[in-house]
Amino acid sequence: MIIVKIGGSVFSDKSDPRSFREDVVREIASELAGFYPENEIIVVHGGGSFGHPLAQQYRIREGIEPDSDFKRVGFSLTHQAMLEVNDRIVEAFLSQHLPAFSVSSSSVFLTEGGEVAYGDVEVIKKLLELKFIPVLFGDVSVDLAKGVEILSGDQIIAYLAKMFRPEKVIFLMDVDGVYDGSPGEGSIIQDLTVEDIEPLLERLKCTAGGTDVTGGICNKLLKAREIAEYSEVWFVNGRIPGRLRGAIAGQGSGTRLRR
Ligand code: IPE
Repeated sequence: MIIVKIGGSVFSDKSDPRSFREDVVREIASELAGFYPENEIIVVHGGGSFGHPLAQQYRIREGIEPDSDFKRVGFSLTHQAMLEVNDRIVEAFLSQHLPAFSVSSSSVFLTEGGEVAYGDVEVIKKLLELKFIPVLFGDVSVDLAKGVEILSGDQIIAYLAKMFRPEKVIFLMDVDGVYDGSPGEGSIIQDLTVEDIEPLLERLKCTAGGTDVTGGICNKLLKAREIAEYSEVWFVNGRIPGRLRGAIAGQGSGTRLRR
C-alpha cells in the first residue's frame, strides 16, 4: 500500500484564495496510475488556499463558542471549502481513469485537541478491497475537548499508517525535501533516520508559529517519526513531474526517512 499526502502548497498558491493547479494534480494522478491496481493507494490532501484562510478567519482552532453562531457558520464554511477542493482533486483523478472516491474526514474522525481520538476505517478498508482509491482531506473536526477543531491531513496520515501499515508514505510538498536549515539556505537531507529527527527539530527552531493553522514542516516531521515505525517515509517535490514516481520506485530525489 502507498499513502500519498498532497500538501496544500502543491495544488494551490497559498497567497491566492481558492487557486487550483489542475495540471499539477493531473500529473500526480497519472504518475500514480503507473502503480495502480497492483498497489492499494490512499490519497489525503491538504487545505491550501481553500481551507486555511477560513480556518484562520473563524478561529476554528480556538474551539466552539456555545453562544455564537459565528463559529458554527465558520466551521461549516471551512468544510464546504474543503469539499470544493476535494471535488476538484477527485475530478482530476477521474480524468486519468483512476477510481478516486471522496471520503469526508470529518465524518470518519473525532479529535481531541487536534489529534485523532477515534476513527472508523471500515469503509476505507472495504473501498480498498474493491480497488477504489479513497481520497481524504484535512478538514474541520468535531473535537472532544474543544468542540470544534482543524484536523490536519498529516494527522490523518499518521493514523491511517498506524492502521494500515503501508510500505510507503509520501509527503508531496512544494520544496525538494527536508532542509537542514531554512529552505533556500540549508541543503536537502537525502537520508534521515528516526534518531535524526530530534536534533533536526531543534535546528529548525520548531516552536509554535508559522502561517499555517496546522504547523508546516515541524508537525510533518513529528508525524513522520511516528509513521516511520511502520513505513518508509518520503518527502518529495510534488510540483516537479517524475518525483512522485521516483519515490514510489525507490530511486527518487527527495528525503527518505527510515527507522
Ligand atoms: C488543513 O489541512 C485543513 C484545513 C485548514 C481545513 P492540512 O494541514 O493537511 O493542509 P495543508 O497541506 O497544510 O494545506
